[in-house]
Amino acid sequence: MSDKAGKKYWEYSWSSVQLPALIDPRVLNLNNFPNRRFHHYFSDVFSKIEANQMKLLEIGCARSAWLPYFAREFGFKVYGIDYSEVGCQQAKQVLFNAGVEGEIVCADFFYPPTTMLEEFDVVVSFGVAEHFEDTTACIKVFSKFLKPNGVIVTVIPNMVGVIGWIQKILDRQIFDIHLPLDSNGLAQAHNYSGLEVLDCNYFISTSFGICNLNGVRSGSLEWSIKKTVLALLSRFSMFIWFVEDNFFLLPTSSWYSPYINCTARKL
Ligand SMILES: C[S@@+](CC[C@H](N)C(=O)[O-])C[C@H]1O[C@@H](n2cnc3c(N)ncnc32)[C@H](O)[C@@H]1O
Repeated sequence: MSDKAGKKYWEYSWSSVQLPALIDPRVLNLNNFPNRRFHHYFSDVFSKIEANQMKLLEIGCARSAWLPYFAREFGFKVYGIDYSEVGCQQAKQVLFNAGVEGEIVCADFFYPPTTMLEEFDVVVSFGVAEHFEDTTACIKVFSKFLKPNGVIVTVIPNMVGVIGWIQKILDRQIFDIHLPLDSNGLAQAHNYSGLEVLDCNYFISTSFGICNLNGVRSGSLEWSIKKTVLALLSRFSMFIWFVEDNFFLLPTSSWYSPYINCTARKL
């Protein structure tokens, strides 16, 4: 089963971007608000398990800024799998730059080395499952990497709300490589895969910055206008985060939240 984008798309995407900054939840600036909330989320999930020296696998780990984070913050031994050679090379470089040991396997996760099956205590993915037409088949494959009782955390962008709608207007091509899924659909895919869903919910109030313009020709008038619109929307998200940082957290919702996080356990 191939994803709606295809390997060529990922190879091309990763060869034209810089390495991401490392994730540091202690950086207090507003841009880092989503990462600080993710840290809160993962700290809660991993407070229930003895993470130190346990094995964590990131599926679709291209250029991952998350692997060093999981190793440093929780003491996981970190691994990643991705079929993009450029993406894997970059993931290795990010680990090296962070001074963190880890293993990156360049392979199709539908046909992984058998030594990787039932090998991990935790499996995470960020923005991978929603690129497949059959979400359950995809999550079933993810769960094969888990040991019994292992925990899976699946993070996807919320394309059913306003952010999906804006993505569709700004760049239809990018919207079309996603399967719009709501929290029930994502939870169901985990349930149908024989996993016990512990939590599946919309995550953080808003973040328009997750929309992207990769399909619009860079430098064109259309691109300049859309980029300005996106920059203004991102400023608006930052204003909301300022309110949340200084006063109170706003509710998450299917309408405005940028992500859906699902945590489940293998029975
Ligand atoms: C949206 S990206 C993940 C994003 C990346 N981890 C990040 O946060 O920037 C999805 C990744 O899944 C990988 N992928 C898609 N299908 C795959 C497959 N069958 N086997 C291995 N990797 C796959 C792609 O190469 C791509 O790097």
